[in-house]
Amino acid sequence: MGQNHVGILLNSSMYRGIPRRKTGQESLSNYEEAARRYGLIPCFLRLGDMDLRQNKCIAYVWNGRDYAKTVMPIPSVIHNRALYSEQIAFRKLAALSARGKIVFNTNNRYGKDVIHRILWNDPDLRPYLPETVTASAGSLQTMMRGYSDLILKPVRGSVGRGIMRLRDAGGVWEVLYSSSKKAAFPQPSTRLKREDAAAWFRRQRLPVPYLIQERIPLAEVERRPVDLRVTVQRGLRGTWTVTGLFAKAAPPGSFVSNIARGGGAYPATELLPSVLPAHLVPAIINHVEALALAVARRLSSSLPLLGDLGMDIGITSKGHPYFIECNGRDQRYGFRKAGMEKTWKETYIQPVAFAGYLLEQRGL
Ligand SMILES: Nc1ncnc2c1ncn2[C@@H]1O[C@H](COP(=O)(O)OP(=O)(O)OP(=O)(O)O)[C@@H](O)[C@H]1O
Ligand SMILES: [Mg+2]
Repeated sequence: MGQNHVGILLNSSMYRGIPRRKTGQESLSNYEEAARRYGLIPCFLRLGDMDLRQNKCIAYVWNGRDYAKTVMPIPSVIHNRALYSEQIAFRKLAALSARGKIVFNTNNRYGKDVIHRILWNDPDLRPYLPETVTASAGSLQTMMRGYSDLILKPVRGSVGRGIMRLRDAGGVWEVLYSSSKKAAFPQPSTRLKREDAAAWFRRQRLPVPYLIQERIPLAEVERRPVDLRVTVQRGLRGTWTVTGLFAKAAPPGSFVSNIARGGGAYPATELLPSVLPAHLVPAIINHVEALALAVARRLSSSLPLLGDLGMDIGITSKGHPYFIECNGRDQRYGFRKAGMEKTWKETYIQPVAFAGYLLEQRGL
């Protein structure tokens, strides 16, 4: 029993919403549809409901009318869609693997510093990485000597929050903050002399570790910086492919494009011709896709089993792509927001197909 079950691991808050179909941006029906294609059954789980010793779990399984709590063996293959920060969760995930369960995207929240280090070690990828250092009073001064535009951001998951931009406005530096609200206009700003930057940095008493990054001069539409979300996944054959990409534009007055911070989502083929030389767009998209694949393969060879990555890739007005960051739990709904319903569904189909591939590999 259980050969055709695929576990979808969710955080408790989302899991609790299942009976009321309140699962935020995660579409359970997309998983159902995807699983039907491959003769699989999705089982929605959370870590707290797994009894490893007895190989039992309580999962929500669709019974044709409702999601019913079902006691069943822990599925052999599990797609992790949860984000964890507690050590106890990581220990339980490790214990699952130790018992032979395959959990892909086991860790969805690597630090941006960890990802940068892995990619930097690949000389072919270096031309695509903004210079990045651990934030400190000293490193800020050094970066301010080398660049005229900088981004300061938390090492871990901020969804556009807590990000700062420091820009040389002709002798004096301007500090811009990413707004905590969706409407980012107008933004508060502070002015700062370079020699005062170290003291300013210490006064911030940043509550979490930060990175300082060269700011990429992103192509803009009506002065709104644009970047791309590229979804790279493994599917039925286990190989990495680009499932799709869409363009994001920061809201007016902002420098972060996150949809959660009011960024707009558009099909790349519609938006890019208005921000880049139109005849170059197809080649630029190819370049971006090749970069995204190279990044996925590199990360995949250095980190425990990965199958699903959402990357932010920026493009300069000259068309050079830069890797900005990579998310393990991709926010797939951006495709829907961009009107790309088919690709949105495809972002669910690929990981389910990959789960099928893993089951087959194991001879299950
Ligand atoms: N080096 C950079 N150059 C230009 N723009 C940047 C840079 N870093 C970040 N940005 C802008 O800020 C946005 C948010 O930054 P980033 O994607 O790195 O973090 P995040 O989305 O907040 O993190 P997470 O997804 O982990 O919550 C990017 O999509 C981009 O628009
Ligand atoms: Mg991002």
